Amino acid sequence: MKKNFNINGKVQQIEFSPKDTLLDLLRNNDYTEVKDGCREGSCGTCTVLLDGNPVNSCMVFAASVGEKVVTTVKGIGTNLEPHPIQKAFAEAGAVQCGYCTPGMVLSTYALLSKNNNPTEEDIKTALDGNLCRCTGYVKIIDAVKLAAEKMRNNLK
Ligand code: FES
Ligand code: FES
Repeated sequence: MKKNFNINGKVQQIEFSPKDTLLDLLRNNDYTEVKDGCREGSCGTCTVLLDGNPVNSCMVFAASVGEKVVTTVKGIGTNLEPHPIQKAFAEAGAVQCGYCTPGMVLSTYALLSKNNNPTEEDIKTALDGNLCRCTGYVKIIDAVKLAAEKMRNNLK
């Protein structure tokens, strides 16, 4: 089947199987920044934004996306022009293997879009579905605080 998808601001017609998840569709079309982990909704590494809300793309059928806007981590910033959240993760040392990072960054983006001065509890709740095997989370929480500060002060 073929449908139009709005991914990172670009509308394109994509062919996919009715059994494909959004994760399948994205990775089959070179959006490999969306990471493939448990495929059962437990790790959050496949997180994307659907109309600004974080979802596990492995748990969403591609056919059910409809007109919703899909945003991957490359949709908020690039290597040349990183988003303040992406910079904060690098500056705070919150990235080790990096596998969880796209999902962490997008969950952070969704949090800070609604609340630019989150408490530590707010941050823990927002990142609850995103697992990291490497960092022990302390530096990730530091990164979210730093990102919030940058965004509050319009810093890059
Ligand atoms: S791959 Fe989707 S939650 Fe783990
Ligand atoms: S940095 Fe390796 S899983 Fe999080």
